[in-house]
Amino acid sequence: MDRIKITGGTPLKGIIPISGAKNAALPLMIASLLTSDRLTLKNVPNLADVNMLARILRNHGADHSIEGKRANPSTLMGDTFHLTARDIVDTTAPYEMVSRMRASFWVLGPILARMGEARVSLPGGCAIGTRPVDLHLDGLKALGAEIDIDAGYVVAKAPRGLRGNKIVFPKVSVGATHQVLLAASLARGETVIENAAREPEVGDVAECLVKMGAGIEGIGTSTLRIQGRTRLDGAIHTVLPDRIEAGTFACVVAATGGDVVLEGARRDLLVTAIAALEKTGVSVTDSPDGIRIARNGAGIEPISLETQPFPGFPTDLQAQFMALMTRAKGTSVIRETIFENRFMHVQELARLGADIQLHGDTATIRGVKGLKGAPVMATDLRASVSLVIAGLMAEGETMINRVYHLDRGFERLEEKLSRCGASIERITG
Ligand code: EPZ
Repeated sequence: MDRIKITGGTPLKGIIPISGAKNAALPLMIASLLTSDRLTLKNVPNLADVNMLARILRNHGADHSIEGKRANPSTLMGDTFHLTARDIVDTTAPYEMVSRMRASFWVLGPILARMGEARVSLPGGCAIGTRPVDLHLDGLKALGAEIDIDAGYVVAKAPRGLRGNKIVFPKVSVGATHQVLLAASLARGETVIENAAREPEVGDVAECLVKMGAGIEGIGTSTLRIQGRTRLDGAIHTVLPDRIEAGTFACVVAATGGDVVLEGARRDLLVTAIAALEKTGVSVTDSPDGIRIARNGAGIEPISLETQPFPGFPTDLQAQFMALMTRAKGTSVIRETIFENRFMHVQELARLGADIQLHGDTATIRGVKGLKGAPVMATDLRASVSLVIAGLMAEGETMINRVYHLDRGFERLEEKLSRCGASIERITG
C-alpha cells in the first residue's frame, strides 16, 4: 500500500492548477444515464472515485471513452469523457460497487426515471457519520416511485414513469437534491424542490441538465423548479473548478507561508472560506489566472467557525482549517454541524503534537509552538489531506499511511505541491 512521506518546514512558491470538481463530475457522469445520446464532459479530474463510477456506469451499459491523452498532464484542463448510455442493460447497482462510493447511489433516480425500475445497494463511502438516505427515498416517492428495501438493496418501481410534484426537504442535502433533480428532469410535468442544496456543484449539474433539454429555474437558489421531459438529449459540458481542492491548497499556503497562485480557482465559490483565511492573517487577492494566496512571516491568528450548507463554511474544509489552527497564536473553536462524526483527524493530528479537545460537535484547538513529524493514518478523504497540511508544517518527517483515501479526491497532490517546493513524495508498495 502506498504511503506519503513529508518533510515539513518549507514555504511554498509557484502556481498550482486547480482540477475539475470531483463532487460535480460524479453527478454529471450519472446524468449520462438519462439519455441515449452522448454526454461529453470536459475537465474531468483523474481520481479513483471518478474511475470507480465509470466502471459502475459501464456495468449499467454506458459506453465510456476518454478523448486521447492529455498533451501535458500538468496543464489545467482535465480529461474529456464521452459517455453514451444508448441502452440501460442492467438496472441493478451491486453492493460490491456502491458500497465503495456513496455518490454511486445517485444512479437510483436516473435509472428509475428512464427504465421504470431500479435496484441499488444501500451506499457506503467515507466513514463520517451514519449518512442515511431517507431524504433521497422520500423525494423519489413524492415523484410516484414505490420503494422497498430488500436484502440491503433499495428496490424502486415506477412502471408508468415518474410524475412531477412539490418536495420540501426538511434539511439540506446535496445528495438528495442531486437525486431528485436528476430524476425530475425525466419525469412528467413540473417538480418544485424547496430547501434544495445551493452548493455550486448542484448548480453545475442543473446547468448541464438544461443543456440536455430539461427546463430548470432557480439554479443557485434554494427553490428549484424543474420541467421534466419525456426524453433528454446529449450535451457538452465543462466541469467547474474544485472549490474544495482550491480551499485545501489555500490552507497549505496559510500553514507553510509563501506565495502561490491557485490557477483556475474561483473566488465566488469560496467566499466564506476566504473570509476565514483572511481572518487568520493570509492575504487573498485576485490574479489574472485565479486566486493568489500569500502569508509572510507573521503568525496564524486563531478563528472560530461553524460548518453550514453553502454558502456557509463547507464541512469539506473543516479538517484542513483545523490542521491550520493547530499552530495558531491562541485558541480556535470549530463546530461541525453537517456530519456527526467528522473528527477522525483529531487523534491523528494529536500524534504530531496538536492540542485539540472534543466536546460533542465542537473542537477547541489550542495553538502550539510547533508540531513534530510522526507516522499517521489517513482515515477519510478530507481528514487525510489535513494530515498532509500538518505534516508540511511539522518539524521533521511525517509518514502518511493508507493514502488511497487521498487518491479518491485529490489529483496529483504530491506533484502539485512538490512543484511549489514542498518536500513530499509517494512511496509505492
Ligand atoms: C455531499 O455528500 C458530498 N459528496 C460530501 O463530500 C459533502 O461533505 C456533503 O455533500 C456536504 O456538503 C459528494 O458530493 C459526492 P448530504 P452527501 O446529503 O450528499 C444528512 C467529500 O469529502 N442526510 O448533503 O452525502 C446527512 O447524514 C464528501 O468530498 C440525511 O439525514 O451529503 C448529513 O448529516 C464527503 N438523510 C446531512 O444530511 C439523507 O437522506 C448532509 O448530507 C441524506 C442526508
